[in-house]
Amino acid sequence: MNTVETFIEILKFYKEMGAEFLELKQDDPGLLLNQIHNEIKQCTKCDLHKTKSNYVPGEGSLRPDVFFIGEGPGETEDRFGRPFIGKAGQLLDKIILKMGYTRESVFIGNIIKCRPPNNRTPLKDEVEACIPYLKSQIEVLKPKVLVCLGKVAFDNLMGQSHPISKVRGQRFDYQNIPVIPTFHPSYILHQRSKQEISGAKWKVWEDMQKVLEIIR
Ligand code: URA
Repeated sequence: MNTVETFIEILKFYKEMGAEFLELKQDDPGLLLNQIHNEIKQCTKCDLHKTKSNYVPGEGSLRPDVFFIGEGPGETEDRFGRPFIGKAGQLLDKIILKMGYTRESVFIGNIIKCRPPNNRTPLKDEVEACIPYLKSQIEVLKPKVLVCLGKVAFDNLMGQSHPISKVRGQRFDYQNIPVIPTFHPSYILHQRSKQEISGAKWKVWEDMQKVLEIIR
């Protein structure tokens, strides 16, 4: 039993003991997110569950200003069941801090919740099987802005296909929630020269300024 489930059981016990003033709210985001994550952890809708070590549902605030969406778990994320905790994640942490947030005050998730073998790009049927979980997470968490990290995140959320360099920093909408696409942190890490690295970092920072403007 996880923390939320334990809490619900304790609440039920007190209600049975006559504490009628205690209410179990069915639309509580913690409760709903917990249900989604429990479903993810039992998912067999595509073959990736066979090769993964851990499901990576996502984590963070239940009422985030920003929901960062990546592609899918890498090796470290697969090992620990947590999103963006490898090298790209360390860079994402820095971006989040620079925006004035912490990992805990935003939400971090992915298009797919299981690591594809050798970190290959997720296949169409894998995305189709998995993306309803992300859409449910968005519906429950109601973030003020969605940040798509890279082409895979943006194209699959929006059902479009564009070079990320063409769309980054522009505002789109998903279910009336502003969407800002930007480069994936791995793209920054894969630049060859220091100049290219700082160029890419600067562009991401420009995009994050737009995110902050929307929130303000
Ligand atoms: N890259 C992603 O897109 N997601 C993660 O969780 C980690 C690395």
